[in-house]
Amino acid sequence: MRPITVIGNWKMNGSKAACRQWIDTVCAEMEKGMPAGRRFALCPPYPYLSDCSQQISACSSASLALGAQDVSAEMGGAFTGEVSAAMLHEFDCKYVLVGHSERRDRFNESDRLIAEKALQALDQGLTPVICVGETADERNSGRAVEVVRAQVARQIAILQDRLVDSLLAYEPVWAIGTGKVASAQIAQDMHREIRLQLAEFNADVASHIGILYGGSVKFDNAVELFGMPDIDGGLIGGASLDPQEFLAICRA
Ligand code: PGA
Repeated sequence: MRPITVIGNWKMNGSKAACRQWIDTVCAEMEKGMPAGRRFALCPPYPYLSDCSQQISACSSASLALGAQDVSAEMGGAFTGEVSAAMLHEFDCKYVLVGHSERRDRFNESDRLIAEKALQALDQGLTPVICVGETADERNSGRAVEVVRAQVARQIAILQDRLVDSLLAYEPVWAIGTGKVASAQIAQDMHREIRLQLAEFNADVASHIGILYGGSVKFDNAVELFGMPDIDGGLIGGASLDPQEFLAICRA
């Protein structure tokens, strides 16, 4: 059985005070007990990682982990503005998002760069959450599967067996921040497609890897999405900013 993983992605939102309040609320609830076989993480902006790390380590529930929203593809050196996987490891990050569609689109990140970032994360014992997904135009022109398969193929080609220590996140771009969630069946169909593609490469990787869904997940739709056989949790943007909504999704 693959665990359900729920990861909050705050993007460039929040503040030091908001992080503190959020973790206070979420930890207090998690200390009362959470469903077994589930893992939860928060990915705040970089400057808040240190504070969040201290606060999470003081929480007596081990349910909540820390993650980052991006990582450098380089190990270290003269790369102004970059943050290495080793630095994230120092702050107890367990997860790091790579290849979010906002970074693919706004910062021109290629599949190769994304795979290199994932390798850096894996080298430091972090779990990369590799995001893939098609745009509205690509879906409307019937190319959704082809586009996602091409993105996954590049990750398989570069990461090979190391993919088993990663998570994938299927995030249709048209569903991110739009309130237009993919129906549970549309999401399941793509997750199935990805798992079949992985099985062509390595059956073990295909059966073990967690594939999360992201794009307008809220408590209202999480139950149905997480109930699908190939959906192993969610990457939650907007709805993760509200601690009560995040907790409700974690319990969904
Ligand atoms: P959303 O974002 O939940 O706000 O749609 C998801 C994401 O970008 O990971």
